[in-house]
Amino acid sequence: MILFKWHAGLMTAAFLSFFSALLVAATQRRKPWWLRRHRAAGILGTLFILSGMTAAIAAVATAAEGHLRSPHTWIGALTIAMALVTPVLGLLQFKILGQAGRRFSQIHRLSGRILTGAALLTLLFGLRIAGLL
Ligand code: HEM
Ligand code: HEM
Repeated sequence: MILFKWHAGLMTAAFLSFFSALLVAATQRRKPWWLRRHRAAGILGTLFILSGMTAAIAAVATAAEGHLRSPHTWIGALTIAMALVTPVLGLLQFKILGQAGRRFSQIHRLSGRILTGAALLTLLFGLRIAGLL
């Protein structure tokens, strides 16, 4: 049970980090510090989500239940995949120059929004499983 609580807490922290990254990029772009904070919040979110994933896998294994059995876990797995791809795209847009770099930048903006939305949806499904919604 304690592992599920860690899972829920870490995943909530992950969502809040992604949401902060999105808010900074969407509203604070004229401030000189925006990119530093945006990058830090985004990467922190990915670290939280990986820790939350470890807690979930351990919790499910300890409860001797099968993995990935419900909509929460399926959207959750997709969210985790997006949380790995999004910061990589964010970093790559500075490494790849020209037209291709701009394309990475556009895909990063889209994937960042999808990731934040997917994390919220997964969170709500999780709260439902826990009987809190
Ligand atoms: C999971 C982590 C991240 C999330 C959720 C995320 C999300 C976003 C979102 C939603 C936008 C578009 C905001 C808007 O225009 O309304 C954006 C833009 C941007 N992000 Fe991220 N981001 C993440 C990580 C990173 C990282 C690690 C970098 C690397 C420095 C980065 C660099 C940028 C840049 C440069 C832009 C502006 C792109 C442009 O104007 O075309 N992001 N991000
Ligand atoms: C961004 C948010 C979240 C993500 C990405 C996520 C992801 C996942 C994943 C991938 C699993 C499957 C683990 C496995 O099968 O080994 C899982 C299981 C689970 N999660 Fe989450 N989760 C999130 C938030 C939450 C929250 C907020 C709660 C509760 C308040 C929660 C409760 C649970 C429970 C009870 C299970 C076990 C379900 C089962 O075995 O059918 N999750 N989660």
